[in-house]
Amino acid sequence: MPPVSIEINYWNFDISLRILLIFEILPILIHPSINIHKPPLMSDIFEKAEQTIAAIAAETPANAEALEAFRIRYLGTKGLVKSLMEEMRQVPNEQKRAYGQLMNTLKQQAEEKYQSLKADFEAQAESAAGQAFDLTAPGEPLPLGSRHPVAVTLNRIVDIFTRMGFSVADGPEIEDDWHNFTAMNTPEDHPARDMQDTFYVVDAPGMLLRTHTSPVQARVMEQRKPPIRIIAPGRVYRNETISTRSHCQFHQVEGLYIDEGVSFADLKQTLLYFAQEMFGATKIRLRPSFFPFTEPSAEMDIWLGTDTEKNYRLTKGTGWLEILGCGMVDPQVLENCGIDARKYSGFAFGMGIERQALRLYEIGDIRLLFENDVRFLRQFSSAM
Ligand code: PHE
Repeated sequence: MPPVSIEINYWNFDISLRILLIFEILPILIHPSINIHKPPLMSDIFEKAEQTIAAIAAETPANAEALEAFRIRYLGTKGLVKSLMEEMRQVPNEQKRAYGQLMNTLKQQAEEKYQSLKADFEAQAESAAGQAFDLTAPGEPLPLGSRHPVAVTLNRIVDIFTRMGFSVADGPEIEDDWHNFTAMNTPEDHPARDMQDTFYVVDAPGMLLRTHTSPVQARVMEQRKPPIRIIAPGRVYRNETISTRSHCQFHQVEGLYIDEGVSFADLKQTLLYFAQEMFGATKIRLRPSFFPFTEPSAEMDIWLGTDTEKNYRLTKGTGWLEILGCGMVDPQVLENCGIDARKYSGFAFGMGIERQALRLYEIGDIRLLFENDVRFLRQFSSAM
C-alpha cells in the first residue's frame, strides 16, 4: 500500500480558523518566556522572591571566597536576582508594581550585604598585611623645612645683642602717626617725612604701615623706666619702587639703650663689637648724618677692603659698606615719651636686615627674598 501523504493546506481552513491561528495561537507558541505546557502560578513567583530575600538575610559568608560565591549566586549574570527579575514579564499588570518593589528590596539587600562584607574582608586583609610590616625598618624621612635667609640673618643679629644684655621688644606693624613720626621728633610738615613715604589706612585716619622700627623706641620708653636696653626686630614698609636693591617691605632691627651717663663712646663700642661678631670686620667708620630723633647722628660703615672684585663692587671702590644709622637719642624724644632728659641719656641705632642677608649669602636680587620660590628657599636648609 503506497504511503498516504496528507497535505494540510492553510488556505483550506475557513477564515475564522485562520484568524484564530494567527492572532490567538501563534503568539502563544512563539513567545519565548511562556511555558505553554505549564503556566506558572503567580503566588509561586512571589513566594520564590520572598524566599530568596530571606535566604540572603540568613547567609553569612565567612571569608572572601565564600563572599565571591555569594556574589555569583545572587548578583552574577546568571544569578538569582537576575532570573527573578526576568519573571516580571509574566506578572499581570496590576501586580507588576508590587513585584517591582519586591525586586528592589531583593537587589538592595543582596548588594548591601555584598558591599559591607567586601569592605570588612578588605580591611582585615589590610591589617593582616600591616602585621607583616617590618617594625625594625628605618622610617620614611619627613621633609624638613628651612629657615628663611632673612630669619637666619635676624637670628644672628639677635644672638649677638642678647649676649650684650639687650632684650627683644616688639610693636605693631600698623602704627599710628604719633609713634611712627611725631614722637620721633618728625612732626607733620617735617621734610624728613618725605624720605619715608608709606601706605596709609584709608578707613582709619592717622594709621599707617610703620616705615621703621623706631616707633618701638617710643612705645618702650612710654611704658618702662630706664635703664632700658632693648632691640626690636620687625617688618617695615615704604612706598618705594621695587628693584634689585629696594622693596616696599623689608626688615629692620632697632636698638635702644637709655640710662644715666650713656655716651657716644658706648654707642661706638657696642657697634664695633657687633660688626666684628657679625662680619668679622676689622674696623668701623662713623660718618656724620641726620635723623630727626637722634643728635648727633651718624651712619656706620664696615671695612671690607677692595682686595676682591666682589668687595670692590659692593663698596663702590671705597672699601666701606654702609650698614646702619645711629645716634644719641634726641632729648626731645625722651621728653615726648616721659623720660627726664636732664637725668638720662641714651643711644639708638637701626639697621636693615635684607642687605645683610644679601651680602651674607651672595644673593643678587632682594626680590628673591619675598617671592617664596621653594627652589630658592630650599638652598638654605642647612642654615641655622
Ligand atoms: N629709623 C632710621 C631709618 O629707618 C634708622 C635709625 C634708627 C637711625 C635709630 C638712628 C637711630 O632709617
